[in-house]
This record gives sequence, structure tokens and C-alpha cells, in this order.
Amino acid sequence: MSDQELMDLAFKAREASYSPYSGYAVGAALLAADGRVFLGCNVENASYSPTCCAERTAFFKAISEGVHSFSRIAIVGGRRGEEPESFFTPCGVCRQVMREFCEDDFEILVTDGKELKKWTLADLLPAGFRL
Ligand code: THU
Repeated sequence: MSDQELMDLAFKAREASYSPYSGYAVGAALLAADGRVFLGCNVENASYSPTCCAERTAFFKAISEGVHSFSRIAIVGGRRGEEPESFFTPCGVCRQVMREFCEDDFEILVTDGKELKKWTLADLLPAGFRL
């Protein structure tokens, strides 16, 4: 699957975003080593702290299906109902969840709506904690 195809799936995932409080819609498409793709969106809550980010939704869907090996994730975020204006960067909690299941070379693909940009997990979480 090409980077662009994975990003197109992240845009599709974003359509399901439940974000009435922040008005910020995020979608993620997580590519597993076996070729399966797990979609995730952010799911907010009136009590705020139970909110789950799009990336973690995608990871937890995969893990709960017994899938533990991943190669890439595409993420897109921006104001709900609008095209993204800047490159999205995953929050620290989501980076740590990636650390749990992925190696340093795991790829994180983002877009500003025009171009694609790619980081590795080591770029975004150097010296990340692991047991
Ligand atoms: N959000 C994500 O989905 N992923 C991140 O990595 C950072 C933030 C969501 C959480 C919340 O619903 C909204 O973006 C604003 O913080």
C-alpha cells in the first residue's frame, strides 16, 4: 500500500471523529505487518479526560484483534469540517503507546493537506521508555 493510499484511509477515518468539545477532528490509519489496516478517530467525552486519541483508537482496535506487529501509521487532524492546515504531530501519550508495540523505524506519516511528511518513531520519541 502506498503512503498516499494509507493517508486517504486516515482522511476516511477522520470522518467518524466524535469531537463536539474541541471541534478538532483526527483520523488515523494503522498498517499492520500482515497488510491489514486499522482505522481510528478521536472519541471525546463530556468529562474530557476519558477522551481517546485517533492513534490509540487504531492501536487498541488492532491489539484487541491479536495484531501486534506494525509498519506505518498515517494521521490527519484539523478543525472539524475543514481541511487540515498544518502538519499534525501525535501527542506524547500516543507516542508512548507506539513505543510499546513498535520499533524505532516505525513510520509516522502526516500531511498538511498538500504534502506528505514522514518521521520515524525514533525521531518523535528518542530514548523512549520501555521495560
Ligand atoms: N488528538 C488526537 O486524536 N491525537 C493526538 O495525538 C492529539 C490529540 C485529539 C484529542 C482531542 O479529541 C482533540 O484531538 C483535541 O486535543
